[in-house]
Amino acid sequence: MPHAPLDLARVRRQFPGLESDWTLLDNAGGSQVARAVSDRLTDYLLHTNVQLGASYEPSEIAGTRVRAGVEAMADWMGTDDPAEVVLGPSTSMLLRNLAASFGQTLAPGDEVIVTDCDHEANIGPWADLERFGVVVRTWRLDESTWSLRVQDLEPLLSPRTKLVAFTHASNLVGTIHPVREIVDRIHAAGAKVCVDGVAFAPHRQLAVRDWDVDAYVVSLYKVYAPHCAALYVKRDLLESLPRLNHYFLSKEIPYKLQPGSVNYEMAYALTGLWDYVDAVRGGDAEGADGTARSTSTRREQLADFFGAVAEHEESLAEVLLERLRGLGTVRLVGLSSSDREHRVPTLSFFIPGRHSAEIVRALDDERIGIRYGDFYARRLTDRLGITESGGVVRVSAVHYNTAEEMGRAADEIVRALA
Ligand SMILES: Cc1ncc(COP(=O)(O)O)c(C=O)c1O
Repeated sequence: MPHAPLDLARVRRQFPGLESDWTLLDNAGGSQVARAVSDRLTDYLLHTNVQLGASYEPSEIAGTRVRAGVEAMADWMGTDDPAEVVLGPSTSMLLRNLAASFGQTLAPGDEVIVTDCDHEANIGPWADLERFGVVVRTWRLDESTWSLRVQDLEPLLSPRTKLVAFTHASNLVGTIHPVREIVDRIHAAGAKVCVDGVAFAPHRQLAVRDWDVDAYVVSLYKVYAPHCAALYVKRDLLESLPRLNHYFLSKEIPYKLQPGSVNYEMAYALTGLWDYVDAVRGGDAEGADGTARSTSTRREQLADFFGAVAEHEESLAEVLLERLRGLGTVRLVGLSSSDREHRVPTLSFFIPGRHSAEIVRALDDERIGIRYGDFYARRLTDRLGITESGGVVRVSAVHYNTAEEMGRAADEIVRALA
């Protein structure tokens, strides 16, 4: 689809956090917050911070705002049903909750499949069901393609498979998986899917309905918003799941999976994500309030925005990959191609015989923020035998980074390796 290129100066103006002299390339850890998002958050706290659900007018206004936040996230994720969106403090907590509920529907001998390259947030809660007699199988990452391949999943599926949990894009490897194709195969086997979209969501448009996923989760502090997370659960699954909430909320969705209040100001802040996209697109949408636009217009704007993002991110990834490809000592953990169809700009590598901290500290001294470690994809760094030597060095860009920043990071990495 044709789209207008990204106006990087305009993009960067939306992020006060980029005004320092630091080059921030640890975005897969957490992104900067867009000004429009923090404006909404502050506005909520200063002007409508009352308890929801009462009949007095300020409470009704506050309720409308929080609902607008959930609707904004539903649109962002690609569903027109806000009742399918469960908000929570983090992906780890939301998946723990989902597994605590889903696990109650399983019997000993039922099977779940996890991967060895996900963040532990989408492995541990499912693997822990083993204590109830559930059989846990592991879908291994293929190292020649740095991807989860359907042909490797096939032999693991059985009539007793109830759920497959996998990552849309690993926070360490960065390969984008063809979600719809994988989901179709899993559904044909009669199982549900739970997809971790955390490392994908900052880079591409989400389309949970089109992908036909049963559950899909994102951490919003990596998507230009504060520390909170959103879990999409398909309505029929949500309706059938045992409640985690009070007995009189057993049928209310999404509340049955959302015990306690959501964080009101953060929910409302999510409407600011749409303001951010408007600001980057030059304010071409009607109305200042994100709730005013039609879903289809908003989705088209988002497609346009993320089209430009993907193009720019590919060029950023290429700046570093091009340098790393030429270095025999570097082992990339991920595709060496920057092709936007196949990867996000989360770039990981290690140097056999050297501790990953050495490289990262050298960049700290140059005011370039990158990071090393297992990034809670511990099963993968264990498998690669690099956990003890500091895991991978990870350089993770998002669309607000510049080619010049990537070039400086590349220069300093090359210097540290010499
Ligand atoms: C791919 C991936 N999944 C899950 C998580 C956990 O997210 P949260 O911190 O919201 O629990 C992270 C955090 O880094 C992640 O990168």
